[in-house]
Amino acid sequence: MALMKRVLARAFTRCEAVFEYAFGQKNNPFVSLGALGWFFYWIVAATGVYLYIFFDTGVTDAYASVEYITHEQWYAAGVMRSLHRYASDALVIVVVLHLFREFAFDRLRGRRFFAWLTGLPLLGFIYICGISGYWLVWDQLAQYIALATTEWLDTLPLFGEPIANNFLNSTTLGGRFFTLMVFIHIFGPLFMLLLMWVHIQRHSQARVNPPRVLAIGTLLTMLALSFVFPAVSQGPADLDVVPTDLGLDWFYLAAYPLLNVIPGGQLWLYLVGGFIFFALMPWLPPAKPVPAATVNLNNCNGCARCFDDCPFGALAMVPRTDGLAFDAQPAVNVNNCTSCGICVGSCPTATPFRRAGPLQPGIELPHKTIAALREELITVSDQQDTSPRVIVFACDTSDLDRPARFGNDAAVIRLPCVGMLPPSFVDFALSRRYADGVMISGCAEGDCHHRLGNEWTIERMARRRDPYLRQRVDTRRLLLSWLPRGASRRRERALDEFRIALGTLDDE
Ligand code: HEM
Ligand code: SF4
Ligand code: SF4
Repeated sequence: MALMKRVLARAFTRCEAVFEYAFGQKNNPFVSLGALGWFFYWIVAATGVYLYIFFDTGVTDAYASVEYITHEQWYAAGVMRSLHRYASDALVIVVVLHLFREFAFDRLRGRRFFAWLTGLPLLGFIYICGISGYWLVWDQLAQYIALATTEWLDTLPLFGEPIANNFLNSTTLGGRFFTLMVFIHIFGPLFMLLLMWVHIQRHSQARVNPPRVLAIGTLLTMLALSFVFPAVSQGPADLDVVPTDLGLDWFYLAAYPLLNVIPGGQLWLYLVGGFIFFALMPWLPPAKPVPAATVNLNNCNGCARCFDDCPFGALAMVPRTDGLAFDAQPAVNVNNCTSCGICVGSCPTATPFRRAGPLQPGIELPHKTIAALREELITVSDQQDTSPRVIVFACDTSDLDRPARFGNDAAVIRLPCVGMLPPSFVDFALSRRYADGVMISGCAEGDCHHRLGNEWTIERMARRRDPYLRQRVDTRRLLLSWLPRGASRRRERALDEFRIALGTLDDE
């Protein structure tokens, strides 16, 4: 499993580097696959509603109404039909990539299993909706799908009478299957929407809208395709004639030819086995358990910043229990907490400057405390013998399977996520002369392994989000570096250039 992940991760990294070059980091479609899924869903839904106005249900009416849409009204409903199809195909592409990418970059194990388990049935829904859509047109392709699907369903001991009998010849075909298909094709997507909502329930501020450039670009591409290669039907269905020479939509129907070579029962076994295998992936192997964040009420003023910043909905603000004069206190849901530490970075009491009493903020990670981080900073600073001295704060996860490299002489402090770093540490490092410069090196923009760590860090260091970086900090001595995985050389180069820039500052 680890090897599979590594190979896939490398493949994604290589591919994404090309897209990053073409589109830039923020508009790289690979970092917005889930959001693109939502976007394509809305296009499919909106065009579907429009098409339904013109669609007639029935053995002969269905085909005729779709022909009318395609040819008589090609400029409006025809384009809608093509968009409906292309957006459905695009949905399959982005969701399959999304699945493999979340797997490759290990965003499914431990307490993150929920999105994975709710995502899998979504894939099933996409296929059920797509196949029922092809069925509705009642052309020769629909006839093939109807017969192949019902024969396959008949291999299960579910129905008293084989349902494929309905499609034996034109006399056995009735309208009830169309009614059933319309029902599936309308309620399937509605149910899917509900599941999509459940899918992101453990994500605070889930990204369900892709960047505008990507949204407009993909929409225009699909529109252009709709004019150049409009979606058309494949001749009316005729159950008395076996269709030959069919064009398949390989995104939805690639498995159908398998039915000719693999017995239906065996195919069910593969499907169920595959589903179970995929469903078990979050535990193959189980993630090393990491302790959840803990709250220390003595130093908590109930400001709720940790609650606002937690990317995994693991915090709730609840009524105060210790009698202090604050309204609320955070409560950690240990089942959701991924130990990213981002809440620590947001806590105003997580400061290395405090002298009285032990250094213990309102919230922290038991295995990576703020006191230990302060000690590490001082130790690492003492060991530096290069000038200018730079301390690098880097995410554990910002590179493939190995931690990001910065050259042998770099003083690197690793954090679960750089979002864990309170801005006061930058101030502390610079004002107490533990370093001449601080570099914060995290995942690519829009692709934080812990979702919001780099976004919040950018905001905090730009003094737009609490806790702000103090005004006295000379930001020329702070380098924020957000690079994709595998960009080790670029990272090292960024550090070298930063050192040179610091050198010129010192000469001033
Ligand atoms: C209609 C289909 C789907 C849509 C629209 C969709 C959309 C999304 C969105 C918007 C997010 C949140 C991204 C963020 O803000 O960080 C997400 C997360 C996720 N999705 Fe999907 N998804 C779909 C299907 C799937 C499937 C089939 C799988 C895999 C079985 C999957 C696995 C995941 C995982 C593991 C995460 C969470 C990653 C993390 O914890 O950061 N999704 N999805
Ligand atoms: S460690 Fe991360 S997931 Fe856990 S409570 Fe803090 S911000 Fe939320
Ligand atoms: S950010 Fe800190 S002080 Fe504010 S509520 Fe959370 S733990 Fe308490």
